[in-house]
Amino acid sequence: MKTLHELMTLKGRAALITGGAGHIGSAIAGGLAELGADIVILDMDQSKADATAGSLRQEYGVRTFGIAADLGQEAPLRQVPAQIEKELGRLDILIHAAALVGTSNLKGWAVPFAQQSAETWDDALRVNLTSSFILSQACADLLATSGKGSIINLSSIYGMVAPDLSLYAGTNLGNPAAYAASKAGLLQLTKWLSTVLAPKVRVNAITPGGIWRGQAEAFVAAYTKKTPLARMGTEEDLKGAAAYLASDLSAYVTGHNLVVDGGWTAW
Ligand SMILES: NC(=O)c1ccc[n+]([C@@H]2O[C@H](COP(=O)([O-])OP(=O)(O)OC[C@H]3O[C@@H](n4cnc5c(N)ncnc54)[C@H](O)[C@@H]3O)[C@@H](O)[C@H]2O)c1
Repeated sequence: MKTLHELMTLKGRAALITGGAGHIGSAIAGGLAELGADIVILDMDQSKADATAGSLRQEYGVRTFGIAADLGQEAPLRQVPAQIEKELGRLDILIHAAALVGTSNLKGWAVPFAQQSAETWDDALRVNLTSSFILSQACADLLATSGKGSIINLSSIYGMVAPDLSLYAGTNLGNPAAYAASKAGLLQLTKWLSTVLAPKVRVNAITPGGIWRGQAEAFVAAYTKKTPLARMGTEEDLKGAAAYLASDLSAYVTGHNLVVDGGWTAW
């Protein structure tokens, strides 16, 4: 029987992380690099993607590079697997962490329902959900060739439950319908792909709860009160979940939603 250490290692594997220059994406990338994986950071901005990739290379000595691509556009995403195969010779792990999030500065987005726009709804569905469909499809053959293929989609508690708007009272935070719908869609896309891509590729989701980033005190207090583990999340809380689902630690797990929310959705 293999040791936990052997099951956990990602040496010789390569991971693509969308939104890899973001808060959670870069934390997850660091965790996988620590376990030995080569890392491709895909994000909007080339310099940010390169900077994240560069610091991983420096800290963990793994092979890394950055790709700038707008997940709202299909054509550039279709080129991504060939570029990774050329640079790294393989792809074993695809993590979709990019999203238009509550704090994204968009028109008709984190505003009261009556002001939310269909145009921004379409943009959010495109970036948050459709791009995962496109990348999963484009990368499927390469992931299957790996023999260890693993796709992980980052959903949200708002893809599972409805918002309690009283939490947001008196803050400039909002809760867009499109965010919730896209994240719920990701959970079902995850399940759908888990049988369609089986047995060669495993497909799972991670559902984070709210991450602390210096939000308004009243919001943090109200949010914490609803959280059994009595605090907001941190980026670090997601590292173990990603390492588990990316590695052979979860070799018999597919179609699962790993909820990392301090118990927020438990009641
Ligand atoms: N922060 C939270 O409280 C929280 C809670 C639940 C779920 N999540 C989910 O976790 C994931 C990461 O969130 P985060 O808090 O790290 O957000 P973040 O904004 O720090 O990171 C998101 C990244 O996605 C990139 N991105 C956005 N649009 C893109 C596009 N069109 N093309 C390419 N890249 C694009 C951004 O540049 C950014 O680097 C998201 O899917 C988010 O929905 C976050």
